[in-house]
Formats: sequence, structure tokens, C-alpha cells
Amino acid sequence: MTELSCEGQWVVVTGANTGIGEVAAREIARKGALVTLACRSEARAAAAIDRIVQDNPAANVEFLHLDLSDLSQVRSATVELLARRDAPIDVLVNNAGVAGRRGVTKDGFEIQFGVNHLGHFVWTMALIDRLRCARSPRVVNVASRAHTRTAGIIWEHLQRPTRSVSGWPEYCVSKLCNVLFSRELARRYDDIDVYSLHPGVVATDIWRGVPAPVRWVLKRFMLSNEQGAETTLHCATSPEAQGQSGLYWDKAAPKQPHPYGSDDKLAATLWAQSEQWSGIDATS
Ligand SMILES: NC(=O)c1ccc[n+]([C@@H]2O[C@H](COP(=O)([O-])OP(=O)(O)OC[C@H]3O[C@@H](n4cnc5c(N)ncnc54)[C@H](OP(=O)(O)O)[C@@H]3O)[C@@H](O)[C@H]2O)c1
Repeated sequence: MTELSCEGQWVVVTGANTGIGEVAAREIARKGALVTLACRSEARAAAAIDRIVQDNPAANVEFLHLDLSDLSQVRSATVELLARRDAPIDVLVNNAGVAGRRGVTKDGFEIQFGVNHLGHFVWTMALIDRLRCARSPRVVNVASRAHTRTAGIIWEHLQRPTRSVSGWPEYCVSKLCNVLFSRELARRYDDIDVYSLHPGVVATDIWRGVPAPVRWVLKRFMLSNEQGAETTLHCATSPEAQGQSGLYWDKAAPKQPHPYGSDDKLAATLWAQSEQWSGIDATS
């Protein structure tokens, strides 16, 4: 991957206090960008900021409180972020995610759909005008190969508590939504480069729902957080990825998603449904 300096850029990473997001934030800060770590826990974000600054004392990093499971807090977070400085946002890395959980968000949506997709939809649309002020803006949506494991989207199931015992089918649907959102965002905004990606199977905290002994064994066969952040960093910063908007990436290269992930009608329906459920009119 060609190294690109991010000097002078403002990059915002959600869920950057651990796992793939923390490595992405650290490496983008190392390239010279101001990086905002948008996280739900100030204490965990402060610990991540300490680690990043210990690694690179010149790192320019800051915390923003963001809870994607509460749409009104998401809106307040975007207001606070935009008020911080009158500068374009160059790159938005929508990385935060939950897997294997059961429940609903504060607004009554299935927890995985609400956090992984709908929260990020509201977040991104509230920041879109500031992104469009940048010279070469990018939105990177961390999806998953799990999007291939769905039998489509049952809309009524998204407005209820998690139905499955494992939360896995709902996670797969939420990751399909990440792929579809990226596709539709790219179609609507040809001045923004939009990416969705699979980071690999990575030994992060996302597996916290798996029983401990099984988790320890499985994690030995997974990628490190650094390896897991490679495709995110490629999409967020590499010159080679510039201009390749609307694609799904795996191992730092474009890859054909599951047919559902390239279904333009489904992408448009998800967009309309997300607008209706969030009360946003995102017509561009
Ligand atoms: N690990 C894998 O094998 C794998 C595979 C495919 C895709 N992915 C995707 O990669 C992304 C990063 O996951 P990871 O593996 O690095 O997992 P992780 O270590 O568990 O990190 C997830 C991040 O999301 C944050 N988050 C969770 N709920 C949130 C909320 N309501 N509001 C704001 N932030 C919230 C977490 O914050 P807390 O620390 O406060 O919980 C954490 O910072 C996710 O989108 C995941 O779906 C991971």
C-alpha cells in the first residue's frame, strides 16, 4: 500500500477505543491527521488516547462522546463535533459495531441494526455537508463478510428486540445494511468516495459474547488488530483507493459482495426506510 500523508486532515473514527478502530485511529494520527475518537465511554477512550500518545507523542487526537444506540445523543454529538472547528471533515471511518447481542436501542430498534446501521446513518447524514467541503472526502463503513450469511431483510424484525438467541442472524443483516448504505451513499453523492469492507476475522473484543474458553482458543487463529485494520487504512488513506467509490473491499482490494449487497433496489429501500425511521430527509 502506498503511504499517503494525512497532514492537515481531520479524520473521525467511531468505536476507536479498542480493536480495529483504535489501530486505525493510531495509524491515521501517525500519518499526521487530527483524529477524533468518537466513542461511547470517555474512560475507555481516554485509555486509548493514552496508548496512542505513548506510542507517538506528536499524535493529535481528541475524544467525542457518541452513543450510536441513542439517536438523539447521536444528533447532539454531531452538533458538538461540528461546533469544535470550522474545518472540513476529510474522512469518516464508521467502525463501531456490536455483535452477538440481544435487545433494542433507546429508539426501539433491534440492537445490532440500530447501532451498526441506523446510528451510523444518522451520524453520517448529519456530517455530510461538512464532508463535502473537503477536497477529497471519504466515508469508510466497516461491514463484514457476515453480510453474505443473510436471507435478505425482514423490515418488521428491525423494529423489535433481537429474536434469535445468538444475535448472529441480526448481526449479519446489520452488516448487509452497511454494504447497501455504502452503495446508495456512493450513488447519491458522487463527490464523496464511499467504501464498505470486510476486515478479516480479527481477535478483538467483538467476540466478548463467546464463552471464554472457546474464545481464547478461537482467537489464536484470528488476525491481529493491526492486520485487521489494514483494509480500513487502505480505504481511508491510500491513493490507490481514491475514486473507487461504492465498492466492497476485502484484503485491501475490491471484491464482489453477495448479490443482496449489490441489489440497488434493496439499497434504495433501506435508504428510504432509514430516512423514515430516523426522521431525516437526506435527499441530495
Ligand atoms: N473482529 C472481527 O472479526 C470483525 C469481522 C468483521 C467485521 N468486524 C467489524 O469491525 C468493526 C470493529 O469491530 P472490532 O472487531 O474492532 O470490535 P470491538 O473491539 O468490540 O470494537 C467495537 C467498537 O464499537 C464500539 N461500540 C459498540 N457499541 C457502541 C455504541 N452504542 N456507540 C458507540 N460505539 C459503540 C465499542 O465501544 P465499547 O468498547 O464501549 O464497547 C468499540 O469501541 C465492527 O463494525 C465489526 O462489526 C469485525
